[in-house]
Amino acid sequence: MPTARFLGHACVTITDGKNNLIIDPFLTGNSIAAVKQEDIKVDFILLTHGHGDHFGDTIAIAKRNKATVIANYELAMLCAKLGAEIHPMNIGGAHNFDFGRVKITIAHHGGGYGDDASVYTGPPAGLLITIGGKTLYHSGDTALFYDMKLIGEMNQIDIAFLPIGDNFTMGIDDAAKAVEFLNPKKVVPIHYNTFPEINQDPKEFAKKVKLAQVVILKPGESVEF
Ligand code: NI
Ligand code: MN
Repeated sequence: MPTARFLGHACVTITDGKNNLIIDPFLTGNSIAAVKQEDIKVDFILLTHGHGDHFGDTIAIAKRNKATVIANYELAMLCAKLGAEIHPMNIGGAHNFDFGRVKITIAHHGGGYGDDASVYTGPPAGLLITIGGKTLYHSGDTALFYDMKLIGEMNQIDIAFLPIGDNFTMGIDDAAKAVEFLNPKKVVPIHYNTFPEINQDPKEFAKKVKLAQVVILKPGESVEF
């Protein structure tokens, strides 16, 4: 069984015991991060979008590990310019890697790199990752959107990581509706309580979700899926 570990905010590591992946490695400067970027050992870094609270330590981790960054085209090109190995993809596309399959899905959000997010990084994305025969969906930062129903119909999602922080992304009510659309077996709330604007109580989210097992992870905790 593959394992996912929540490291705080939107950062998740995934392992099947052999391959090691990290999503949105925002650790340096993240007040709730469970580990330091120096301690991350991965083969692949997957990015949902270019905002600093997702891009984070991507380049340092990529260079130290000789890891490949998987991201949409414009964001991947930026990573290449900054010295990382890349595998560019784009919305709607999937690719089979040695560890499994990645499909880039839509997200309704912004994009942009740098202190003022003014460097263009293409459209924001979600990630469908199949590893060890199981499927993980990380929505990235997004509003609720009805196509989540299609994603749920076309994929048997074993675990979904969804933002509940509100203000910049879905809040609790919209994330609970997203669970209905996606129909995952397990759901982990993320992107809350990192900064004051996104303070939320994950137990409120758990109360509103009827059709999936809600797994509330503190930064550093893991779940099998
Ligand atoms: Ni964002
Ligand atoms: Mn964010």
